[in-house]
Amino acid sequence: MNPTHAELLSQVLARYDHSPNPRLAEISRAAIRHLHAFVDEVRLQHDEWFAGVEFLTATGKICDDVRQEFILLSDTLGVSTLVEFITHDGVEGGTENTVLGPFHVPGSPERANGDSMLENDDAGDRVVIRGCVRNLHGEPLSGVKIDAWQNASTGFYACQQPGVQHTNNLRGVYRTDADGNFAIRTIRPVPYPIPDDGPAGKLLKDNGRNWWRPGHTHLWFTLEGHKQLITHLFDSESDYLTNDAVFGVRESLIRTFTKDASGELATTFDVVLEDA
Ligand code: BEZ
Ligand code: FE
Repeated sequence: MNPTHAELLSQVLARYDHSPNPRLAEISRAAIRHLHAFVDEVRLQHDEWFAGVEFLTATGKICDDVRQEFILLSDTLGVSTLVEFITHDGVEGGTENTVLGPFHVPGSPERANGDSMLENDDAGDRVVIRGCVRNLHGEPLSGVKIDAWQNASTGFYACQQPGVQHTNNLRGVYRTDADGNFAIRTIRPVPYPIPDDGPAGKLLKDNGRNWWRPGHTHLWFTLEGHKQLITHLFDSESDYLTNDAVFGVRESLIRTFTKDASGELATTFDVVLEDA
């Protein structure tokens, strides 16, 4: 006689009783329990199971050195954000983090405070992002490395358009001055579609979901002795703030650009780094 669904699950779980790696066994058992419950809940049919296998196969096949479709899938399912929440649970008072995304390229050029990240002509509005980086006690932190990157007003990052945009367009490394201050000149970031030509994008479209992100500038802060902070500044006037394809928006990271005393479009992004 065939085992019941519950008996089958017990048999599978029992195979992990002698795992030499307790954490791996815990994760494996939980994944199996949830997978069985999911298959039972939707009464998964054979053709649907096989469509799932083909979907995961296609997800793997489109990955290469620069494209990671599994991370994109994780982003669009909200799993990356959930992991961020769990990993950064704890200290109150630090600036909120959000997803890294696939468009960070190491080795951006060092730029002086106040310099522009633009290397190409761009029709976008010129803006300046000013801020001060402090620790949890309110003391300014000097020498903080700020790795910044964002898309051009066409919607693309430089790394998506080799030969079209200069390699270093709209990316740069800044450092806070002796008072913890920084200033980044750039263009107003615009909304853009996440890579939508693979299985993750198709799944969104087949479910009638949005595949665009709101306009944002990526900022990655590092200083010895402090927790690194990977975050974004979001433009309050951008579309898609309420339905970001990858669930990256945090209220505390939304800023408004307004004209400052010298007539420049400007905003302030003060940051608090947690102790390591
Ligand atoms: C990004 O903001 O660059 C991004 C993040 C997650 C998925 C796709 C793009
Ligand atoms: Fe981005």
